[in-house]
Amino acid sequence: MSQPTSLPRVGFIGAGRLARCLALGFSHAGYPVTAVASRTPASAGRLAGQIPGCAALDDPQQVVERADVVFLAVPDDSIGTSAHTLRFGPDGAHGKSLVHCSGASPVELLAPARDQGASIGGFHPLYLFGGEATDLERIAGCSVTIEADGALKDTLTALAVALRCHPLSIPPGGRMLYHGAAHYAASFALCSLAECVALWRTLGFAEDDALRALLPMLAGTIQTARDKGLPNALAGPVSRGDTGVVQKQLALFESLGGDHAALYGLLSRRAVALAQRRATPPAAIDSIAEAVEESLGRSLNQAAAGASVK
Ligand SMILES: NC(=O)c1ccc[n+]([C@@H]2O[C@H](COP(=O)([O-])OP(=O)(O)OC[C@H]3O[C@@H](n4cnc5c(N)ncnc54)[C@H](OP(=O)(O)O)[C@@H]3O)[C@@H](O)[C@H]2O)c1
Repeated sequence: MSQPTSLPRVGFIGAGRLARCLALGFSHAGYPVTAVASRTPASAGRLAGQIPGCAALDDPQQVVERADVVFLAVPDDSIGTSAHTLRFGPDGAHGKSLVHCSGASPVELLAPARDQGASIGGFHPLYLFGGEATDLERIAGCSVTIEADGALKDTLTALAVALRCHPLSIPPGGRMLYHGAAHYAASFALCSLAECVALWRTLGFAEDDALRALLPMLAGTIQTARDKGLPNALAGPVSRGDTGVVQKQLALFESLGGDHAALYGLLSRRAVALAQRRATPPAAIDSIAEAVEESLGRSLNQAAAGASVK
């Protein structure tokens, strides 16, 4: 593919799961991916070997010298120390940028580069990288959350689009909330499944059987949310206004002890809020909300005394 001269040269420090996908994706989109360095030279060599015109380098500093946009694709705990070792000035910083890919770590960790005249930013793909070639296809349609200003924001937005992703802009200082909240759509969805599996185990259901039953239901819920939005995709007794079922389930979960009822009650509170966002909320929504709050009044203290799952 011909390389338009206006496209910035991209380099990577770190050659792990995320870097493998981004470096190949940018290269396939026509960006000159010029340099990779990593902790282990063999990692850098493996990645650079798949990209035409890309050099595997021993020293991360050489990546700064050969690229305009440097992705610091190292584990979060190494971002700050790596940023401290890189030199951008006094003339070298012109038009250079240092970017990390963490969702939770502040962009401010890259301040040493900014202090030398480089632009700094965050580029966080909302995608779980497995490190396999399939990542390149699967990342299409995902979002990339970008924290940057000016020309770097435009550059990172174009790079996100080059991966066939949707750019999402985040204000400075918002990353911890953004990343913590995103757990609800990833790990915490797994925790909800684990709670169901644990409760079903008391009925004698094996985990494999439980997951075979639950995962298609979850997939259907996601599809419905895509089609109808969250309030209208809500199913279950809260959405139908079945106060009696909600009351009996709250009482049952309270009788189990531990924090089962608190978890159920807090999620039911969120279900009530979703149902209330409907154009026509269920007629019984107020009595359901009351039952949920009464149960929470009892169960939150119980939950504070001890967890159900070790
Ligand atoms: N994985 C995901 O799903 C995902 C999603 C979104 C964002 N991210 C973010 O992407 C960044 C990288 O994560 P990852 O999952 O790609 O990690 P990873 O698979 O563990 O890869 C990290 C890479 O950095 C290299 N490395 C470690 N310490 C280094 C150092 N001090 N100097 C140079 N290279 C070093 C590793 O070394 P060697 O291979 O050379 O030994 C490895 O190639 C993190 O900030 C993470 O939060 C990850």
